[in-house]
Amino acid sequence: MQEKGAGRIAAAQAALEAAPDFEIYGRVAAVRGLLIEIAGPIAAMTVGGRLEIEVERSGTVPCEVIGFSGDRALAMPFGSLDGVRRGCAAYVRDSIAGVRPSRGWLGRVVDALGRPIDGKGPLPQGEMLRSFRADPPPAHARRRVGAPLDLGVRAINTFLTMCAGQRMGIFAGSGVGKSVLLSMCARFTAADVAVIGLVGERGREVQEFLQDDLGEAGLARSVVVVATSDEPALMRRNAAYLTLTLSEYFRDQGASVLCMIDSVTRFAMAQRDIGLAAGEPPTAKGYTPTVFNELPRLLERAGPGVGEGVITGLFTVLVEGDDHNEPVADAVRGILDGHIVMERAIAERGRYPAINVLKSVSRTMPRSCDPAYYPVVQKARRVLATYADMEELIRLGAYRPGSSVEVDEAIALIPELEAFLAQSKEDSTSISDGYARLAEIIARR
Ligand SMILES: Nc1ncnc2c1ncn2[C@@H]1O[C@H](COP(=O)(O)OP(=O)(O)O)[C@@H](O)[C@H]1O
Ligand SMILES: [Mg+2]
Repeated sequence: MQEKGAGRIAAAQAALEAAPDFEIYGRVAAVRGLLIEIAGPIAAMTVGGRLEIEVERSGTVPCEVIGFSGDRALAMPFGSLDGVRRGCAAYVRDSIAGVRPSRGWLGRVVDALGRPIDGKGPLPQGEMLRSFRADPPPAHARRRVGAPLDLGVRAINTFLTMCAGQRMGIFAGSGVGKSVLLSMCARFTAADVAVIGLVGERGREVQEFLQDDLGEAGLARSVVVVATSDEPALMRRNAAYLTLTLSEYFRDQGASVLCMIDSVTRFAMAQRDIGLAAGEPPTAKGYTPTVFNELPRLLERAGPGVGEGVITGLFTVLVEGDDHNEPVADAVRGILDGHIVMERAIAERGRYPAINVLKSVSRTMPRSCDPAYYPVVQKARRVLATYADMEELIRLGAYRPGSSVEVDEAIALIPELEAFLAQSKEDSTSISDGYARLAEIIARR
């Protein structure tokens, strides 16, 4: 009796193994704009999961499930919808979407799905699959931010000294010098590796960044992730995820990583487009509620890890017309450990990087500052503030020299302080040299 049962089980197993691999698929039921409705085995699909729509002639269109409505799954494509029609098969793929990075990715430029776009051949694949959407390290197990991190840029190193594992926003309008500043940080930083996500930029800007700003030497120890403005929202959003995924890979190898996203605003816009397509209601300035859930989920992935490696973050935020209370700027400011404000008026005077140090804050100061130089930094700030208050009057000639000791001192020091804050994109200054130079300027009075 028992033997007969065992025989049957073995026979059933053999039959199962002999059967062809089965695939789960649904069918395209409707397409509205970039939203695809899939009918079929929706129980096998999850939000964030992958589908591949089979298209005659051109192969497959990769998609992501972004929601459900009634008995249909809602999906968006990572590519063009050309050739998709009602009835196309939509295959359910592995639910973990990610990449297998290796050290061989350094010096390379990839798209939002981790495919090479620099014409340098295939990327060496690592062993471990790393998810695009990893969770941040558990808060209780995270280390605290580490020692000061040299970024090579005087205005940041001295007035806004950053620590390894700190996350800063860079708030600026377009054309004020964000890309050049990021490339300086990538080239000059004492961090081991830079991972740079260019999200929603125009193609021309990407080429300029790679060739003119970053250059061969900067690229050599970086990985650049690119999704241009003409790519689908899912690609633009994923470029930001992948930038963090690659940073996490290098962090787990024990590296000090400088992770940069230009810009987080375009990531938020991509998430808004996805949310609106899925039927979310628009709220603040057209942004949907998930934007404000996704921003912390993304930005929290940067920071100290649980081991040796650490991710320091620089995230740009577009503030057009100096609207610093725009909802994305507001949300990002609340999540990060400080902000660097760049101003058009300063750029227009020709002082680059156009950082307004008085409006910028690093929340790790003064702990991150060398105590020997903290009084120097404070003094320099006071001088800048005094001058900023009186600037209008001084320009109009309405200030009479001799009326105030502080103002006279500020007027005398300002040219040198401005020269100190200005820095050409080829010039790098270490933290200690920066402090020493600032101390020298202040000591002259
Ligand atoms: N450190 C710098 N030194 C000299 N010029 C700069 C510097 N930073 C920016 N610029 C000038 O500003 C322009 C715009 O800078 P960019 O970084 O492309 O702006 P954004 O990325 O904010 O749009 C550059 O083409 C360059 O002429
Ligand atoms: Mg730019």
